[in-house]
Amino acid sequence: MRLTDEEQGILDGARGEAQRLALGILTKLGEAYGAEDMVKIASAHIVGSSYQIAGEAGIEIYGQLVAQGARVTVRTTCDPGSIDFSRWREFRTPAGYAERQIKIAQLLGQMGVVPTWTCTPYTTFNVPRFGEHIGWSESSAVVFANSVIGARTNRLAAYVDVCAALVGRVPRFGLHLPEHRRGEVLFELSPDLAANFEDHFFPVLGYLVGQKTGDRIPVIRGVPHATFDQLKAFGAAAAASGSVALYHMVGITPEARTAEEAFGAQSPAERIAVDRRQIALTMEQMSTGQSGPVDVVGIGCPHASLDQFARYAALLQGKQVRTGVELWVCANSTVEAMARAMGYVADIERAGAKLMVGTCHNDCPLEPWAFRHLVTDSGKFAYYTPTTVGSACTFASTEACIQAAVTGQVQRP
Ligand code: F3S
Repeated sequence: MRLTDEEQGILDGARGEAQRLALGILTKLGEAYGAEDMVKIASAHIVGSSYQIAGEAGIEIYGQLVAQGARVTVRTTCDPGSIDFSRWREFRTPAGYAERQIKIAQLLGQMGVVPTWTCTPYTTFNVPRFGEHIGWSESSAVVFANSVIGARTNRLAAYVDVCAALVGRVPRFGLHLPEHRRGEVLFELSPDLAANFEDHFFPVLGYLVGQKTGDRIPVIRGVPHATFDQLKAFGAAAAASGSVALYHMVGITPEARTAEEAFGAQSPAERIAVDRRQIALTMEQMSTGQSGPVDVVGIGCPHASLDQFARYAALLQGKQVRTGVELWVCANSTVEAMARAMGYVADIERAGAKLMVGTCHNDCPLEPWAFRHLVTDSGKFAYYTPTTVGSACTFASTEACIQAAVTGQVQRP
């Protein structure tokens, strides 16, 4: 790789051991992927903030970095942790486990990481601009930044993201290069879906697109309109069921004003027609649970936006979560504060729902609850719940999730 004099200096130790080590790892990664040089990044977002992901190795590595005086050199935010820092006792998190997560938080704080604890850093203090190079991990955040904002990042792995944060650079390959951002697979929506563009359609479509795309770049044609939250839900599902890091939605996302723009000069390698039958089939596949009793409902994945809080509050108006059922709303503390100021949190809590802030069902140790059946409106939760929560899972619309929390029963879609 071609390194600048400054980068060569870092590799020679001019900025200390932590930066030397970080740039050494990034250089090796770049060489493996055929990168010609490094590109400076405007921000980083790190996923190894969670004790569940970082484990004891994370504490050791971050401890060494702090001892070496490591500080991040670009704005760096962190993904959800494995506890709700203020309510972990309510969520039955073992004290010893919480203590380890708090240790990680202290170490990250000493390195200058902004304690956002969220998978939606773009709703807090990390909002990239179109065309900006960034070094992010967290699949749902990466796909949002690339696709909806038009920023440029590969899906970094845990610890590689920390290296990027320390030196403010990543090797220039993959999605940092315009020629690697072009569409590869065309998903053509059938006109029989015209009446289907409700909120819960988007995670189902994302799940289907992810399954069929793998790590290629999908282009979706035929969606007439999509909101911020619908795009967030679509991308998170596609990034979970596949490894989609960038999608183009024709007429909606910034690098796809037309299908021609999304594909560049090349034609699609594959064309896939999507009709109502496939959507119904995918929705069925997303559920492993049976119709019947429910003990936990999870909404706010990716972390809830202010609009979603408003919706939950409205849907819970005059209702009460059934005794023996847990309704948890996952969010970050920034949006929580605003939702509280707007009165939504009071409405939600009055109905018996709980806020789970800075973490989520998939990041927390939930063994003490022994949940048997989780209901969710998130394609990403639907994908991971059977392994992370260890329970059956039913995917349903947000309205049906609230209904399940209130009645304690769900009907499989
Ligand atoms: Fe975020 Fe947890 Fe969902 S990290 S995307 S709320 S699985």
